[in-house]
Amino acid sequence: MIQLFDFGLVGLGVMGRNFLLNVADHHFSAIGLDTDAQKVADLKDEGHSDIIEGTLDKVAFIKKLARPRKIMLLVPAGEPVDHIIADLVPLLDSGDLIIDGGNSHFEDTNRRFTSLKSKDIHFIGTGVSGGSEGARKGPSIMPGGDPKAYEIIKPIFEAIAAKVNNEPCVDFMGKGSAGNYVKMIHNGIEYALMQLIGESYHIMKLGLQQDNEGLKQTYHDWNQGVLQSFLVEITSQIFDKKEDLTSGDLVDQILDKAKQKGTGKWTSQNAMDLGVAIPTIDAAVSMRQISGMKDIRMKASDKYTERSGEFVHEVNVEEVRDALYFAFIMSYAQGMAQLSRASKEYQYDLNLEHIAKIWRGGCIIRARFLEDIRLAYKNDSSLESLLLSPEIIEKVNSVVGATRKVIQYTVAKGIPTLALSNALNYFDAFKSAELPLNLIQAQRDLFGSHTYERKDKPGIFHSDWN
Ligand code: 6PG
Repeated sequence: MIQLFDFGLVGLGVMGRNFLLNVADHHFSAIGLDTDAQKVADLKDEGHSDIIEGTLDKVAFIKKLARPRKIMLLVPAGEPVDHIIADLVPLLDSGDLIIDGGNSHFEDTNRRFTSLKSKDIHFIGTGVSGGSEGARKGPSIMPGGDPKAYEIIKPIFEAIAAKVNNEPCVDFMGKGSAGNYVKMIHNGIEYALMQLIGESYHIMKLGLQQDNEGLKQTYHDWNQGVLQSFLVEITSQIFDKKEDLTSGDLVDQILDKAKQKGTGKWTSQNAMDLGVAIPTIDAAVSMRQISGMKDIRMKASDKYTERSGEFVHEVNVEEVRDALYFAFIMSYAQGMAQLSRASKEYQYDLNLEHIAKIWRGGCIIRARFLEDIRLAYKNDSSLESLLLSPEIIEKVNSVVGATRKVIQYTVAKGIPTLALSNALNYFDAFKSAELPLNLIQAQRDLFGSHTYERKDKPGIFHSDWN
């Protein structure tokens, strides 16, 4: 008799193979499908030979899955997902489940969800975060779609997800494309945190003259306190890596042009559509673009040779740490604000406390601060902004002074801190009872009769400005 497998996985790249092995670690049998014979063969050497199998044959793959079939795709987002779905659907039966675990755009997920529903095939779009190591040892998983379909896969996802206080870092996010949407925002925050850490590195390297050994120690120390997070931890590790080719440190040989697959840009594009301000995430996307202009930057650096930094006060490592913590808070606050707005706009009915909870482990933005975010939404689920939580207000107030000092320093020194300084500007705007936008309304009314509202009485007004 043919053994029927509990779980099927399409795409045996590093992520897919590790995910499948993680499933097998938790005693679920799993079969993998790929077009690359080597990847299929490699699976045999991974242990678990009694409960895993690889195949090149999609018909055999489908036949060997227990029903309702649970098939997860871990392939590049975009067309490959549509091709595989089109290939598999004719072989499936009513009630089977396809799960897309890639970084798919949420609008693609909506389209696939509707199309598969009409064929009576369940579809779940899920965020999976944690990179290849997370896939192997426990990722954070953000599924969305039909809650009944989630019940089919829930036991496997809960078993393989990362655990924090014995609670799995997975939860049903909401209807339709909610899972992919939440993952997109995760990545937007990821871009911001990475850029901010990069700016802190630049300040300490150029301003405080720290060498790589010192930087390794500084990030290691920061990771013991309020900044404790995966990204700060790996930053310390990066400064420790020696280089074989030149016998120096590897970080110094890496070209300063950052690539992107697009999820951060999607976050910014969608924020514009929703009318939500996420300037720190936008700055992180822009900095990747500016980093790509290496040739122009090199030409410009020869032409603009102003001397700077002569009359500036100094800053210390603790102040840079506090500024980074401040900007981390602003980045999470902007991401949570976008989630909150999207939840209403797309009727996702997101639970921000649960999202913070499953981001505490397994994912790239996991950080001690996520427990504070979780508590803020637990204490008040209708919180208008994370920055209005009494506990968060206290934390922000404790570090805003150091942030101002660090930014005065970087401005005077000419050290670019696009994300850090706009985190502060976002905060200053957010807490301003009065902004100068009354003037913009007046300008709009003067040149285009666009009308304005008044402070002293309700209604819509237009003036003859001449
Ligand atoms: C994760 C990551 C991952 C993402 C990479 C690369 O949560 O595991 O977000 O999904 O693909 O971080 O993203 P960029 O190429 O856009 O930097």
